[in-house]
Amino acid sequence: MSKLYINGGKRLSGEVTVQGAKNSALPILAATVLCDGESVIHNCPKLSDVTASVRILEHLGCICKREGDTLIVDSRNISCFDIPDSLMREMRSSIVLLGAISARMGRAKLCSPGGCELGPRPIDLHVSALKKLGLIIDESYGCLDCKTNDCLKGTEIHLAFPSVGATENIILAAATAKGRTVIHNAAREPEICDLQNFINSAGGCVCGAGTGTVVIDGVSKLHGAEHTVIPDRIVAATYLAAAAMTRGKILLKNIEQPHLISVLTYFSEMGCVLQVKNKSVLLEAPQKLSRFFEIQTMVYPGFPTDAGPILVAMATLSNGSSMFVENIFENRYNYVGELRRLGAKIKLADRVAVIDGVERLSGARVDSTDLRGGAALVLAGLAADGLTVVDKIHHIDRGYENIENVLTNLGADIVRKEV
Ligand code: EPZ
Repeated sequence: MSKLYINGGKRLSGEVTVQGAKNSALPILAATVLCDGESVIHNCPKLSDVTASVRILEHLGCICKREGDTLIVDSRNISCFDIPDSLMREMRSSIVLLGAISARMGRAKLCSPGGCELGPRPIDLHVSALKKLGLIIDESYGCLDCKTNDCLKGTEIHLAFPSVGATENIILAAATAKGRTVIHNAAREPEICDLQNFINSAGGCVCGAGTGTVVIDGVSKLHGAEHTVIPDRIVAATYLAAAAMTRGKILLKNIEQPHLISVLTYFSEMGCVLQVKNKSVLLEAPQKLSRFFEIQTMVYPGFPTDAGPILVAMATLSNGSSMFVENIFENRYNYVGELRRLGAKIKLADRVAVIDGVERLSGARVDSTDLRGGAALVLAGLAADGLTVVDKIHHIDRGYENIENVLTNLGADIVRKEV
């Protein structure tokens, strides 16, 4: 089991090139299942979630090869339609493969993904939409056993909630369905646009991603495609926060500014000086962060739920009290108890967190509770006095490529130890 040992208090400064987006790479890897050919995915981050996806693709019959930041997937000879429990449990977001496998094979079988640290994570929106496309789904014994009598047929789908995963699943299932599918109240996240671009470069016909209405005209088949994954906006926010919390200065390269606007607003409110130029942003931190007045998480283009733990960590060391409201997930505050072990003053009441900034944090032993909560603990450890030991960092490795190397290059005293 590895842990991160952090001697805090170092001022971070330097340059970071942001990795590819995990939440874009995963649905794009699912889309390769639809392609009768070889796909080349550039800027594909080296993450445990990506490794888990590759294992599933290989189980299905794909041939995958990594060349640096590029992943090559040959999906000509897919022969399986099931995802074994062991692989499904490694990564609950494998549910996004359901639409693609069903469309390619006419069959799909996987166990229900179940909940995670963030809450029950239901998939009712996925299931009801795929049924509307003609997928017959038997949900007994904790499994999703799916088949199509003929082929999937395009239809109109109204999502009760703009679910990111459900929107992606529908696009993947509809890309080679017969006829047109229109998704109303679709999620608008940038990762959905990236998926649309990949599918269209593979011969698909999708439009409207990034708006609330996505239109998919089914084509007979997709061929392999070459694609570069967009930068990870949450990882970008994380490294900006590392500099912001240590009175530092950072030049972040390879960002998409429109994807970050809702987050950068609060960095400015907290006293950071930002200069955005083309695909980079320069952040200079103040001597002391100011509080943010109130943040409410919302679907895109609102403030992203995944950046919540990052901004809450920043607020622990700011002047005054900040109010944070989590509106997307039921249970996204597990990391708060661990932040309190570092001296943070945070009051919780259902979805609301009130963070009273303190003069300083002090190092302690803490456990990562989930991916972004774990990142928040690392940030707090970087700013705390003394030694912080972060355990259960497998959560962090799901979404951050070489986090200790990136932070070391910025001047942090952080090492990973196998213990
Ligand atoms: C994606 O999860 C991301 N994961 C999440 O990132 C992100 O937090 C989330 O979108 C919101 O932006 C990936 O892309 C792999 P949702 P997803 O479906 O698709 C409810 C990270 O840290 N819901 O938009 O699961 C659900 O319970 C992860 O990288 C239903 O009720 O998010 C939640 O309250 C964490 N029924 C809300 O919608 C459904 O069928 C948002 O879920 C589906 C979702």
